[in-house]
Amino acid sequence: MTISIIATVGENNLIGVNHEIPWLIHEDLKHFRLMTMGKTVVMGWKTWEAFNELPLYGCNNIVVSRRKKYIKRNKNVKLINDPMEATKLSNDILIIGGESLYRYFLPLANMMYITKVYTKITTENEDVVTRFPNFTDIDWKLISGDYRSEFCINFMTYENINLTKSL
Ligand SMILES: NC(=O)c1ccc[n+]([C@@H]2O[C@H](COP(=O)([O-])OP(=O)(O)OC[C@H]3O[C@@H](n4cnc5c(N)ncnc54)[C@H](OP(=O)(O)O)[C@@H]3O)[C@@H](O)[C@H]2O)c1
Repeated sequence: MTISIIATVGENNLIGVNHEIPWLIHEDLKHFRLMTMGKTVVMGWKTWEAFNELPLYGCNNIVVSRRKKYIKRNKNVKLINDPMEATKLSNDILIIGGESLYRYFLPLANMMYITKVYTKITTENEDVVTRFPNFTDIDWKLISGDYRSEFCINFMTYENINLTKSL
């Protein structure tokens, strides 16, 4: 079983403001498409709605909500009520957000693909901010980085030291 996380993370672990991702970085979007293509992607319903309820093309899309009657308007999406159900639907899942799903899967994930963004975002209202959970090098080993100075981003890959490749 492989569980991976992909996220774009700014200063102070910021990942979202007002239900949206506060960057539009084409290089990162290309990276995201490359990394997700053909995968089983798992997301919370707020992230699903932030995608305008459009499934990611070429992916097996899974949306998580505790509400059994959460209405999905697209039959190409699987709704689950417990995030662990995703591990029964595929043995290789990629968590694409948001904060609550990252928090849930962080201790369980084998790999993380983090795009670090160095562009500063200022927000006046902390209530509308979502953040990636804290992690340290006690648990996560940085295995590669690819800094792109023209975009002020770094494609970083981390491996969970505590987990073997198979759960
Ligand atoms: N920068 C990035 O890479 C990135 C990527 C994705 C999203 N984001 C940002 O993240 C933000 C959204 O994050 P979020 O945490 O507010 O929302 P979310 O994780 O997308 O969705 C939250 C919902 O997922 C369901 N859920 C979460 N944990 C669950 C569990 N253990 N069991 C069952 N259901 C569970 C709950 O639905 P119910 O309430 O129906 O139970 C919860 O309300 C947005 O700002 C978005 O733009 C950023």
